[in-house]
Amino acid sequence: MTAELLNIHKIIWTEKPTLRAIYHHYYQRILAYANLGKTLEVGGGTGNLKNYLPDVISTDILKMSWLDVTCDAQLLPFASESFDTLVAIDVLHHIERPIRFLKEAERVLKKGGRLILLEPAITKVSWFFYHFFHPEPVILNIDPLEDAPLNPNKQAFDANQAIPELIFGKFYHKFCHHFPGFYLKNKEYLSLFAYPLSGGFRKWCLIPKNCINFLLTIERYLEKFLAKHIGFRVLVIIERKAYAVKCQGSKNL
Ligand SMILES: C[S@@+](CC[C@H](N)C(=O)[O-])C[C@H]1O[C@@H](n2cnc3c(N)ncnc32)[C@H](O)[C@@H]1O
Repeated sequence: MTAELLNIHKIIWTEKPTLRAIYHHYYQRILAYANLGKTLEVGGGTGNLKNYLPDVISTDILKMSWLDVTCDAQLLPFASESFDTLVAIDVLHHIERPIRFLKEAERVLKKGGRLILLEPAITKVSWFFYHFFHPEPVILNIDPLEDAPLNPNKQAFDANQAIPELIFGKFYHKFCHHFPGFYLKNKEYLSLFAYPLSGGFRKWCLIPKNCINFLLTIERYLEKFLAKHIGFRVLVIIERKAYAVKCQGSKNL
């Protein structure tokens, strides 16, 4: 069922220029933070990052013909300190035990290496949309960094969209405690209207094809004033420190 969903996503991707334009902006922003050198992607899904980074090693828990390796992000089959950048787009909130993935990310990244996450943001406006109009739940009353045995029945697309917001918001102190070797380099909110109006990976779209670039330009300008309150996405950049020092928390959080 879930591999089937990725096949459907791939078709929608090819047939929906509005979606590609929105993701083009996402990829540009992700790549602006990527280190030179070897890049690993987890939860690669439709494999579109390869259009921007042809040398990326793209992996997913689902076996798809266009990806390089099938593996669980919670147990990566790669040597320690072997990557300069690790990218996960819309994946963290699908991972059952984010703490296991973050530990693996810390292990496979070289010192100075970066973990780049693009995830749903839970702001006042996005909460409303995600809660009422999106099939994935937003469950805020959990500890996102708790560890426990994995559920063998968990499906790849089972999710809690609140996970990233909780880890890098309310539970940031716990993140710092568990990951003294990581440093939160940046956390930026983005995506105001274009993404929800586009319907994402659904077939419908409320934006005329020839308006999308104009809308994205306006959105980029308004982001600095509005995104923290109404943004639909958050871009999180975590860097592996050269030395493990307790992190202090950040004024921006
Ligand atoms: C919403 S899709 C995002 C796909 C792609 N990154 C994109 O932006 O289009 C989430 C992806 O995460 C994958 N995934 C879920 N749990 C995973 C896990 N534990 N390890 C690796 N991949 C996982 C799913 O199979 C799916 O391809």
